[in-house]
Amino acid sequence: MRILFLGDIVGRPGRKAVDAAVSELRRELDLDMVIANGENASRGLGMSAKNARSLLAAGIDVLTTGNHIWKFKDVYPELNSNPRILRPANFTASSPGRGYTVHTLESGIAVAVINIQGRVFMPPIDCPFAECEKILEEIGEQAKVIIIDFHAEATSEKQALARHFAQKASAVIGTHTHVQTNDAWILEGGCAYLTDAGMCGPARSCLGMAPEPIIKRFITGLPQKWHVADGPVQLNGALMEIDESTGRAVSISAWRKDEF
Ligand code: FE2
Repeated sequence: MRILFLGDIVGRPGRKAVDAAVSELRRELDLDMVIANGENASRGLGMSAKNARSLLAAGIDVLTTGNHIWKFKDVYPELNSNPRILRPANFTASSPGRGYTVHTLESGIAVAVINIQGRVFMPPIDCPFAECEKILEEIGEQAKVIIIDFHAEATSEKQALARHFAQKASAVIGTHTHVQTNDAWILEGGCAYLTDAGMCGPARSCLGMAPEPIIKRFITGLPQKWHVADGPVQLNGALMEIDESTGRAVSISAWRKDEF
């Protein structure tokens, strides 16, 4: 089966481009499933309930998120009621929502998606390794295809988690840095891996934000008000083929499309 994983969707430009592109991409790339990280979808930080619903309606099967998920409170009930919208699993157990789902596609193929967050250069959170182990146990025989979105900053933490779970996961795709890495490959054990999928957002930017205030912040050291950049959008992600009968990855490539 063919899966497109889209990296962090940034603000209105990112949302609009993804909304417009997804159904065409499903045809063009012969996709069975689209997973996207939506944690920056609303104003560049967080994801509102309305925006989450419209991204799902556009043709995304499962939305993952990250450290900014608690910004818009209206998404909390949505996280509780909609199993297609995830938040990192290693937040405290009392947090709204869930960190993984077993999603059954129209074809009948069950795909488990796990959303987990890193701890290096990130706010405090429970151990991603222990949480992932627990979830894989819970998933058991429910799904052979298992995709992990590891929302993390440090390349070392991402590689370590992917290698640790390479025998069990079909793919580990990193998100959060917004910069696509050039290391898509299949780890021993048959696990597709990409350190970071990159972002779906304005190309002429610093990580999706207008560059001027960011530059000023670096030069002056003083806080600045950031806003989502405008202009042409770039869609970044990972395109994978997984053997659904074994759950092992067949291929993975870093994927990018420029929308003008
Ligand atoms: Fe993030």
